[in-house]
Order: sequence, then structure tokens, then C-alpha cells
Amino acid sequence: MDLRTTDAWKALEAHRDRIADVPVRRLFADDPERFQRLSLRLDDLLADYSKQRVTPETMSLLAALAREAGVEAARDRMFRGDPINVTEGRAVLHTALRRSAPGPVLVNGIDVMPEVVHAREAMLAFADDVRTGRRTSASGARFTDVVNLGIGGSDLGPAMVTDALTPFAREGPRMHFVSNVDGAHLDETLRGVPPATTLFIVASKTFTTQETMANARSARAWLAAHVGETAVGRHFVAVSTNNREVQAFGIAPSEMFVFWDWVGGRYSLWSSIGLPIAIAVGADHFRALLAGAEDMDRHFQTAPIEANLPMVLGLIGLWNASLLGLETHAVLPYDQYLRRLPAYLQQLDMESNGKRVRLDGSPVEMPTGPIVWGEPGTNGQHAFYQLLHQGPRVVACDFLAAAEPLHGLPAHHPLLLSNVFAQAEALMRGKTLDEARAELTAAGLAPAEVDRLAPHKVFPGSRPSTTLLYRRLDPRTLGRLLALYEHQVFVQGVLWGINSFDQWGVELGKVLANRILPELTATAEATGHDSSTNALINHARRLRTS
Ligand code: F6P
Repeated sequence: MDLRTTDAWKALEAHRDRIADVPVRRLFADDPERFQRLSLRLDDLLADYSKQRVTPETMSLLAALAREAGVEAARDRMFRGDPINVTEGRAVLHTALRRSAPGPVLVNGIDVMPEVVHAREAMLAFADDVRTGRRTSASGARFTDVVNLGIGGSDLGPAMVTDALTPFAREGPRMHFVSNVDGAHLDETLRGVPPATTLFIVASKTFTTQETMANARSARAWLAAHVGETAVGRHFVAVSTNNREVQAFGIAPSEMFVFWDWVGGRYSLWSSIGLPIAIAVGADHFRALLAGAEDMDRHFQTAPIEANLPMVLGLIGLWNASLLGLETHAVLPYDQYLRRLPAYLQQLDMESNGKRVRLDGSPVEMPTGPIVWGEPGTNGQHAFYQLLHQGPRVVACDFLAAAEPLHGLPAHHPLLLSNVFAQAEALMRGKTLDEARAELTAAGLAPAEVDRLAPHKVFPGSRPSTTLLYRRLDPRTLGRLLALYEHQVFVQGVLWGINSFDQWGVELGKVLANRILPELTATAEATGHDSSTNALINHARRLRTS
């Protein structure tokens, strides 16, 4: 469906034109109930979107748009296991991975829940065996280090969650994540781990990804060189959907943890791909992570649109991107444990919604998924916040913070919280020219100096942000937050009418890289590309051989 043909869209465009120039600080002054009207809670998780450039009327119009676009029916199709990933002919069922409710979930008429439970229990039992030392290395010693070899969804989710749950992982082995095909990543990691007590997880849905397979082969050769070929079987396990390739690599079926084609790579941390998380924090904390995601799934399935966190935040994302034309979305966790969240959300959002055609192949004709970026606060404040406050481009921001810290220096926490609340307030309030002038005059500056400096001290304000505030970043809260983002991305994909679950845009580069690879070592000069690409290949060849 073309959103622009709906009545709700036309009403939203007219509404946007009416409110576009109203400062958000005026909206706060005019409505003392603004926060109550424009915030939602799920238990301790508070989403405050009252600093967005919206009014209660905007939210009603957006909810009408969601109804007209059939978002609720699309959500139900996803949870039901319909093949909504139409370009790959697959169901999209990461929600089944955290489902505890009784009853079947059917894919092609077959209930997948028994194999979901079986795979989860096998993975969690293995994780606890590694943690407790029941599963030992070839020499009989306990594993001290675990290296996950994977990329994209087979790396970012597990790496981010393992980092985020550091306070819950104090007892587990040291975890390492190697993703890049740049040999520096694996080499530097291997220099820091003891071969005799290091376990490798080769994590790849397809088991054909160039980077992961190159790293897996090199890690295997390194291990064989240090502790012997016979040790490989005890030190390598696989997580994949591809039995044949796993066996061809030399990993026995008993050392393989499975998942299925209906789990998208960037939605896979809840599956066996979560093995490094489970090794790091243990089975109970992994189950709590799943339970948190299921809390959000249930809320998403049952709450009315206006009170539904993923619906509301998804609609605000659409409003910002497609109606206000904001091109980027900054993810700013004031939570050091979430330092990898921006990178994880880049894949989740940009690989899902960085699309320009609808399901039927017709162009979307409006901006879709934003450019996602970010850094933890307060670091970002001393780097790029200047642009957020005074640059000509407006950036939509998400702030995240825990009320209670989980580290051992709680005296720092009020400093952190005061900064996150102040940044959201400053972005919204801004500072007018009159206020800047009054401040300078009060500081005793001469009128000419006031005139000269005042324009530099103006903050436009009305810079939109949402703040997600939770009690503490425990596994359950993290599960809720991640499922919230997953569903928010889903809602936006449905509104734009795109397929959020394929990723054809990564293919062309892969094909061309395979073509260029032999040319780097060939004796003849490369001539088959444009003059730039030919010259780059040939210059690299000369530099490497001279
Ligand atoms: O970059 C494309 C992609 O297919 C991602 O979607 C995926 O998460 C990643 O590569 C890794 O794929 P695999 O798990 O099959 O190695």
C-alpha cells in the first residue's frame, strides 16, 4: 500500500504543516500534562517521547495511519508464522524462540516449538557444561577462553549482549569476538588466548560467509599447530543451519547447535547463535533475557496502538524520517554496558529498513530507514553533541539510562544521570536570541560585544528525543529493550510497505569481491573494471610485490 494515498497520511501532512514551527518548549508550557500524555510504561521501563516534535493529535493521527495501513494484521501474520519474508519465501519467527506460551507455532503446517525447545536446551546445557568445567578441553582442563567467529548477526547481537551483561558474567570464561576478515582481528585475539584452554564457536547461519570461514580455517590451523590436529574436535563447535557445510568443515553433528532459515541473522541472538551469551552469563540469565523479550512480544501483541511501545516508537520513527525528513537517528546510551548497542542497531535497522522498493517492487517514494549511529554518553558530549545542539541538520535522538548502576562505583551515577537528563532538556529547550543577549548583558558585556557574540550562543531547540529509562540493565530489561527495537523496526517496515527481512543490498559487493580476489595475485594486470577499480587493484599488486 502507498501510504500517501491514505486519508490518514493526508491529514498528517496538513497537521505537520500546522505544527512545524511551534517550539516544543511552548507545547510544554501550554500543556502541563504533556509528559503524562506522551509517555508510556511497561513495568519499570519508561519511554518518554514528550520531547519529540509531536502533540497528542499527532499521535492520534499516526495511530489512525497504523490502522489504515494494517499494522496490527501484519504483526499477527508475523507471530503466526506466515511467510512474510516474501522475497526469500520464509516465515519470520524470532518471536517463537522466546515463546513460553503453550500451543503450536506452524511453519508450513509443522509445529516448530518442539525443535525450538530441544535446540535451546541442548545449547544451554552445553553452555553450562563449559562454565562449570564439565566440558573440558582436549587436555582435560577447563576452558578459560571462548572465541566466537562470526560476522553481522552472528556477531553483533552476541557481542553486544555479552558486553551489556558483563556484571552477570563474572564467573564465566573470558569471551572474545572475532568478525573481521582483516587478519589483524584474529591474529591479535589469538596472541592473547592460551591454545590448550580455548574453545572456538564458528557461528554462521549459512556456513559459507567468506569472512567467518576464513577466520575459522585460520583458527583451526593455529589450534592444530599448537595442540595437535586431534584436539580440534574438542575445541571447535558450530552454530548454523547448514549441516552439510558444518560437517565438510570437520565439525561433528554432536558439536553443532542448530537454528532455522526462519530466524533472520540480525534477529538470531535468541537462538543457538546466543551460545556465547549463555556461556558468559549462564543458562538462567539467558532464560531471563528471553523472558524479557517475551514480555515485550506480549505487550506488542496485545496493547492498543496508542499504548503500545513498539507501535508508538515505530510511528514516531516514521514521523521523523518520512514527514519531518530527519535523515539520521542517534542512539545515545548513558550506559557504558550498552556501548555496542549503536553498532547492533545499525544492522537491525539499516539492514532491515534500508530499502527503496515496496513488496510489489514499486518505489517507496519517501525516505525510509534512517542512518543509525551513536556512542555512549557522556563521551559523545565531548565529540559530536555540538552538531546535535547547533548544527543545521536536526538529528532524532534516543537516550537510554538505568536508574540504578550495576558497577562498584555508585557515586558516579548521579553525574551520569544529570547529564542524560540535561542533554535531552537542552536539545528540546534551546536558547533564543533574546535569552542569549540577556545572559551576555547580565554578564556585563558591552552592547557591541553582546551583538557580536549573541548569534553564536543561540540554540534552536525543538531537537527531538526519546528517553528510555529503566531500573537496571539486567538480562530481563535488556531482553525487553532489544525486542522493543526489533518490533519498532518491524512497524516502520510495514508502514513503508517494504520487506524488512531480506538483505539483497549486501550481494553485489560480495560478488565483485570474489571476482577481484584472484586478480590481486594474477600475473596479468586487471583490465576488466572501470579505470579507477583497475588502477586500485594494479597499484595494490605493485605495492605488494615491490
Ligand atoms: O551481511 C549480510 C549477512 O547475510 C547478514 O544478514 C548476516 O547476519 C551476516 O551476513 C552473516 O551471515 P552468516 O550468519 O550466514 O555467516
